[in-house]
Amino acid sequence: MTSQLDSLRQHSLVVADTGDIEAVARWKPQDATTNPSLLLTSAQDPRFRHLVDNAIKEARGDTAAAMDGLFVHFGREILKHVAGRVSTEVDARLSFDGEGSIARARRLIALYERHGVSRERILIKLASTWEGIRAAERLEREGIHCNMTLLFSFAQAVACADAGVTLISPFVGRIYDWYRASRKVEDIPVDDDPGVASVARIYAYYKKHGYKTQVMGASFRKTEQILALAGCDLLTIAPDLLEKLSKAPGPVERKLSPEAARKAGGEKIAMDEKTFRWMHNEDPMATDKLAEGIRRFDADARKLERLIISLAAATAAAA
Ligand code: E4P
Repeated sequence: MTSQLDSLRQHSLVVADTGDIEAVARWKPQDATTNPSLLLTSAQDPRFRHLVDNAIKEARGDTAAAMDGLFVHFGREILKHVAGRVSTEVDARLSFDGEGSIARARRLIALYERHGVSRERILIKLASTWEGIRAAERLEREGIHCNMTLLFSFAQAVACADAGVTLISPFVGRIYDWYRASRKVEDIPVDDDPGVASVARIYAYYKKHGYKTQVMGASFRKTEQILALAGCDLLTIAPDLLEKLSKAPGPVERKLSPEAARKAGGEKIAMDEKTFRWMHNEDPMATDKLAEGIRRFDADARKLERLIISLAAATAAAA
């Protein structure tokens, strides 16, 4: 029997959205994505404690270096199980600091390269703020490939494509969450799902205007949302949803294609900073979700930092 997962793999590159190395090994995705929240969960998991301990040992008391080391240790382990790339996120605290983002991205890439991992296998994740997008534009010129995250508005997607970034991660589930709360409903059927519609619109615009930037649908709440985007360049999917897709019988019908997109994609938008800020600000969902997303990733990164500090103190006391 062909499962939905097998069938989906014929239309889109399937990516695992997790910091759980065993899950990556099990699902054998093409690529994998992490974020600070996923890595906080994995860092607290006893199965991966040795990676945290190694990062702390190598950092010799420097918490920032231990954070970078931890991200890179998880990234390297994940890369043992994927043929493609792993995404490693830059600290959310730098979301409005272009120079700081560039410096952190270079530091992460240098650390990977010191361990023999080529930059071709890494996607640096940056928040899709104006500053993040400009930082990504410069990093791409240095051969550092970027994955633009926390992407909720069409303005963000247009600006990312104009900047020539390698890949964007438009979020589906968090848009769905926002509309579910604002409409005060339990569920939104997939045909009316603003998260699904957002990715389909971005995909159509990119293909119609010949942008090379890849579109990777992210942040899913249910398999229907994933299936409605079959054909999207990539889809990053959490292990519980990969499991469901693997158990459901296929085939899966392709929903997005470059041919159909070229007919549907909207007119080209001339994007500059003022237009970006205006268009993004006109979308209350996107302004709420971008701000909240930065706060949430930052809160989890700070928890991770506290975990590192307390483990380092415990190790020092035991020595
Ligand atoms: C992936 O790149 C995103 O960080 C992830 O899909 C977010 O998912 P969530 O909305 O379930 O946190």
